[in-house]
Amino acid sequence: MSITNFRAGDRPAAQPGSGSAKVTVQTILDKKNSPTPFACLTAYDYSTARLVDESGVDLILVGDSLGMVVLGYDSTLPVTMDEMLHHTRAVRRAVRRALLVADMPFGSYHASIPEAVSNAARFLKEAGAEAVKIEGGANRVDLVRALGDAEILVVGHIGLTPQSLHKMGGYRVQGKTLAAFDALVADAKALEAAGCFAIVLEGVPSALAASITSQISIPTIGIGAGPHCDGQVMVFHDLVNLSFSPPAKFVRRYADAASLFREAITHYCEDVAQHNFPSDAESYHLPAGTAVLIDQRAAKMTLPKKA
Ligand code: KIV
Repeated sequence: MSITNFRAGDRPAAQPGSGSAKVTVQTILDKKNSPTPFACLTAYDYSTARLVDESGVDLILVGDSLGMVVLGYDSTLPVTMDEMLHHTRAVRRAVRRALLVADMPFGSYHASIPEAVSNAARFLKEAGAEAVKIEGGANRVDLVRALGDAEILVVGHIGLTPQSLHKMGGYRVQGKTLAAFDALVADAKALEAAGCFAIVLEGVPSALAASITSQISIPTIGIGAGPHCDGQVMVFHDLVNLSFSPPAKFVRRYADAASLFREAITHYCEDVAQHNFPSDAESYHLPAGTAVLIDQRAAKMTLPKKA
């Protein structure tokens, strides 16, 4: 895999310090002290990633949620390294400004630290990601340190961690008892100490997210974690109603792309059936002289009648 396979050459990358300055890990760290929360979104393909990047989102996550929203799996568990790399490359070709973070899929960082480091390195080397995200708290501290030693920057992810679906007994809000609350605060502190530069807090009470956010010096990024995090993240397909599942409580639909697309597709099918598409203006035409010659030829080429 050469570098040109994941980088598009047609548009220059945003530069740190330029008008639409390139977002770096330092930019994200600096958000901790900003009164304005920052926005993150997932993207899984070139066209969506261009829209998200050009709209000014600071951090784009190629989440393993792609397994559910674009590949049709019923959980994130089946997602493979190859699938994640494929989608991360497509997003990389589009993204110029945002920080690009790739999710490590289930099984890619669980067997051993050396295997996890070499899988994580593939996201930077073969797909152009700038950092990786892993799920888990204190149990991932050694891995976060090893990734840091390998110059790989890490976003942590605690609370409702979808890769632990079976262990959690379903997609349930986490941190609702005092013991669970304390354990998540300890997880966040452990990940910070190990070197994570941000932590996703998913599916936790907002008071817990607020407490963690005030106790660590790296940004928290909430999803279903209330308004007190340093940043927010959403799954793009939830934002625009393309995820085909009943929305979780925390999902706000900012557009109804499903209705828009359905309407467009139905209209197209009707136009085709009624000879309204394509029109003459949407068709290619021969040069005038050639048209006459071809008409003469066609007149001589009548098809034999079927028996
Ligand atoms: O996979 C994903 O999209 C995520 C976000 C929801 C944080 O992990």
